[in-house]
Amino acid sequence: MSNIIEVKHLYKDYDNGLIPALKDINLTLKEGKIYALMGSSGCGKSTLLNIIGSLDTPTKGDVFYEGKTLDEVGKLSLFRRDFIGYVFQFHHLIPVLTLLENVESALLSDRNISAKERKERAVGILNKMGLKHRLKSYASEVSGGERQRGAIARALINNPKVILADEPTGNVDSKTAQVILETLKEYLKTSAKCILIATHDEEIAAISDTIISMKDGEIISEHL
Ligand SMILES: Nc1ncnc2c1ncn2[C@@H]1O[C@H](COP(=O)(O)OP(=O)(O)OP(=O)(O)O)[C@@H](O)[C@H]1O
Ligand SMILES: [Mg+2]
Repeated sequence: MSNIIEVKHLYKDYDNGLIPALKDINLTLKEGKIYALMGSSGCGKSTLLNIIGSLDTPTKGDVFYEGKTLDEVGKLSLFRRDFIGYVFQFHHLIPVLTLLENVESALLSDRNISAKERKERAVGILNKMGLKHRLKSYASEVSGGERQRGAIARALINNPKVILADEPTGNVDSKTAQVILETLKEYLKTSAKCILIATHDEEIAAISDTIISMKDGEIISEHL
């Protein structure tokens, strides 16, 4: 099975080294797998996701994307669009657009996709997320769980190789959490990619292939 992401001897310090947020992280994410990144608050989960997602830079060490460094992947905006799907808490939908418009907007920069296809794909994925009745609702007017599902639809619509999710079920009810988990799992089945989820949620841990446990900026165990 091929390696989608490899992290090698990665370090991240904040405040000129006063806060060592990540210490010698080594990690391989393989095709077709779901990984749960767990550990108590402040152990470095979001920092690691941000660096893997190319949204932050490491102090030292490397991340390889299908064997390539970030310098080798080509135009960064295209790489982010095509390779990585972000489901981050701060990654909000645009409130003045409808859910449908928000999801369609993720495809706008791809000139090979017609307006018709854009709409069909967006409607399809929103339906799958149980948002059929909310297509025309503004993001500012739907519930938190609906917004979260909209954000996930937007992250998945480009068929990225990697989904990086930071507490995707953190603030939603258990029914919504179930829809989110099922969608992520199904996505993995239909297109062989990998998913890394930072979470405190035991249900996510239960459906994951591997649980990566962190403590004080280090990986302390990796188990099935
Ligand atoms: N921009 C920043 N500047 C300084 N310190 C930071 C910054 N971001 C995070 N930290 C520190 O780095 C450490 C790791 O933080 P991080 O956000 O990665 O933890 P986390 O595991 O995601 O926690 P949580 O479960 O609460 O989300 C913490 O000590 C945090 O205070
Ligand atoms: Mg975090």
